[in-house]
Amino acid sequence: MEPRPTTITAYPDGPLIVRGEAVLIDEHGEPIRQPRRTVALCRCGVSAIKPWCDGTHKLTGFRTSPGAADVGGR
Ligand code: FES
Repeated sequence: MEPRPTTITAYPDGPLIVRGEAVLIDEHGEPIRQPRRTVALCRCGVSAIKPWCDGTHKLTGFRTSPGAADVGGR
């Protein structure tokens, strides 16, 4: 059985959801440990636990562009 490919899904007005194993690299070129197989990456810029989403985007009213919202609209 082939492993499932890693997917990254942009959610409207929210984070990027990474499903599967991914190698995340910080600004110093060091790997960031992925705590779970599915993680949410902040794309609003206000999370206190970057690169992870902490849900603050809901409080700030973060909005993605209409084109970006269509990407994750499942
Ligand atoms: S996208 Fe959720 S806190 Fe930034």
